[in-house]
Amino acid sequence: MIILGIETSCDETAAAVVIDGTRILSSVVSSQIDVHHPYGGVVPELASRKHIEAIVPVFQQAIREAAIGLDQIDAVAVTRGPGLIGSLLVGFSFAKALAMSRGLPWVGVSHLKGHIDSVFLEPDPPPFPYVALLVSGGHTSIYHVNSHTDASLLGQTRDDAAGEAFDKVAKMLGLGYPGGGIVSKLAEKGDPDKIKFTRPYLNRSDFDFSFSGIKTAVNRYIQKHPDRLKENISNIVAGFQEAVVEVLAYKIINAAVEKQCVHIALVGGVAANRRLREKVRHEARAKGLNIHIPSVGLCGDNAAMIAAVGYHYLKRGIVSGLKDDVYSRQPI
Ligand code: KG4
Ligand code: ZN
Repeated sequence: MIILGIETSCDETAAAVVIDGTRILSSVVSSQIDVHHPYGGVVPELASRKHIEAIVPVFQQAIREAAIGLDQIDAVAVTRGPGLIGSLLVGFSFAKALAMSRGLPWVGVSHLKGHIDSVFLEPDPPPFPYVALLVSGGHTSIYHVNSHTDASLLGQTRDDAAGEAFDKVAKMLGLGYPGGGIVSKLAEKGDPDKIKFTRPYLNRSDFDFSFSGIKTAVNRYIQKHPDRLKENISNIVAGFQEAVVEVLAYKIINAAVEKQCVHIALVGGVAANRRLREKVRHEARAKGLNIHIPSVGLCGDNAAMIAAVGYHYLKRGIVSGLKDDVYSRQPI
């Protein structure tokens, strides 16, 4: 089954063509970073307007790069939520209109499920059940994944998402937006043991997280040592990154052990973080667990993962209808 995926939940306009939920024929992602960069974060109204401009060219590029005709598409899958309502509406309305006008089945799917299923776009995907750590700009959660259509939440952040903490620390230090990539690059030059930041929730046996305390600790450190900021900056971000990575790695390994799952997936934008990938791999190996991490291009928002989820829904006859709408927040 050839599925066209559409994703516009935040600040990336994406379209992809995927065969049977596993083989990517094309995956086009148009980023709005330049638009939001001056504001240090995503401006929802600007995001919606940019999606409107980009959606048709991005869709056309995905079809062109897949080297198929429109008539070869069997179905359409689109992100329904969670995300920014104005942004979601652009992709959702486009997908709905395209499917309706061509008489194709279509399905609206969860963006979070998209990230979780991104490991199926790589060779050697995990067998069910597995535990997944989803770390992105909007979410930090651990799931027990039973099938392509069934995942249960084991724990989540009580405040900031991990990616949000990276972005906020970058902003505090005037490093730019989005902060994750910038912070992780700078952290490679620093000593992670020089400045030790708090590791919230590390002593708890549940699978919840809290990152606002680490962020506040970094802020306090900056206020306290303004004079040596320039020479200290790489050590600050390295210490911050290490604290976040340690908590994330500890919790996902514990979740796998408690749920007796020998397979772990690490997904979402923050899964692109080199230190996190390395640490989780290392800890998993030490416990005899198998780790599945998508390639960096599939960690951030993309439409291939949406097409992958859609395939499994459509295969089971689950489709959306004209009256279905987007949602900003909803559990998976
Ligand atoms: O999954 P994603 O593209 O969008 C959401 O669904 O939120 O994740 C974006 C987040 C941003 O907060 C960004 O700073 C973070 O992922 N990120 C990283 C890295 N690359 C992106 N965080 C840490 N290290 C990175 N290398
Ligand atoms: Zn995402």
